[in-house]
Amino acid sequence: MTNQANPEQGDAAQDLAGKHIVLGLSGGIACYKSAELCRALIKAGATVQVVMTEAAAQFITPVTLQALSGRPVYTSQWDAREPNSMAHINLSREADAIVIAPMSADFMAKLLHGRADDLLSLMCLARPIASVPLLVAPAMNREMYAHPATQRNFLQLEADGATVLGVGTGFQACGETGDGRMLEPDQLLEDIIAFFTPKVLAGQRVLITAGPTYEAMDPVRGITNRSSGKMGFAIARAAREAGADVTLVAGPVALPTPRGVTRVDVRSAVEMHEAVMARASQAGIFIATAAVADWRPASPADRKIKKDGSKSTPQLEFVENPDILAAVASDAATRGTPYCVGFAAESHDLVENASAKRLRKKVPLLVGNVGPDTFGQDHNALLLIDANGHLELPLAPKRVLARRLVQEIASRVRSVRSVGSAKALP
Ligand code: C5P
Repeated sequence: MTNQANPEQGDAAQDLAGKHIVLGLSGGIACYKSAELCRALIKAGATVQVVMTEAAAQFITPVTLQALSGRPVYTSQWDAREPNSMAHINLSREADAIVIAPMSADFMAKLLHGRADDLLSLMCLARPIASVPLLVAPAMNREMYAHPATQRNFLQLEADGATVLGVGTGFQACGETGDGRMLEPDQLLEDIIAFFTPKVLAGQRVLITAGPTYEAMDPVRGITNRSSGKMGFAIARAAREAGADVTLVAGPVALPTPRGVTRVDVRSAVEMHEAVMARASQAGIFIATAAVADWRPASPADRKIKKDGSKSTPQLEFVENPDILAAVASDAATRGTPYCVGFAAESHDLVENASAKRLRKKVPLLVGNVGPDTFGQDHNALLLIDANGHLELPLAPKRVLARRLVQEIASRVRSVRSVGSAKALP
């Protein structure tokens, strides 16, 4: 989670604020990861009610989950704490979602047959299917995972209305290596947040540039800038959460790839230009957040430039880099797609400078922000400028802003597409 100023204060974006999650644990060694998931859900703003099977309680104690969730854990349908003695009804009616993590192969088989011989399976069967989604995170040995019965059960579970969150690949507790590990808690959290996000970009292909570029002077030195890539990565994540198929062309940054996003790493502006031009014609939306170097050394040395004892300094000549956004926007002007969004970091007169840049770049939407103070920070404020005027998105975590921006882009794309093409917009 990138936006945490202080881990103890929780996730600044509070992505799950107001959501009540019933977290169900069935038996498996992956139960140890569920403790971390429980904590992550709470940090993201959710309230969490834990329900465990008897088998799960062999792997991790209810006391641990009670301490982390701040609520007594339910393990039995005979729990006397419920005045009406109907824990399965009461717990499932309160939930915004039931998340089973881990879901063992045996527990999945139980769900499929509608069996209800313990509280967790009983609660899943009793949930109002239209209003309480069921998300499951399988965890099992690779042979169990690959077994035709298991694969058949996944399909049936989805046909019955559950969302199967996928599995990880790698070293397993049994000592074997393969598919079937439970996803990591931060991956599950990203998937749960995405699940709740309205799919305003469903069916859209979105291409995004992010980060700085690095222009080599020789094999060990180069020129770059202070862009952290955080805003572009947050937009990639928000676009994926909103249902888009996202490709992120990233300059050299040390940020984790958002889940479900295809990442293409590049170094120089020329490489970024090539990577973008090869993909732009298939994209419906292009968002250029990268801080692309305007110039590059005309002829980088192929060996390290050495001090030679004389006092002479190297003389660098520069050539201009391609303007990636302008190139995509120019193609879009004839083709009508992709819908292009530019960024501008300005130190002063944001409205005037960003408005002028929008016209110069010939893009329908330009997003201004004040730099360099926000570079590398987790917060930002944005100014959206289009043909109709401007809209301020005040200071907020970059992830919150990214989500708002994605909604704004989606509504503009919808109205552009409904009247024909993006050609005439700037
Ligand atoms: O011209 P300037 O760099 O201020 O414009 C910023 C916008 O143009 C950003 O969206 C940036 O990603 C994009 N840009 C680009 N290729 C360049 C320079 C800027 O795509 N060579």
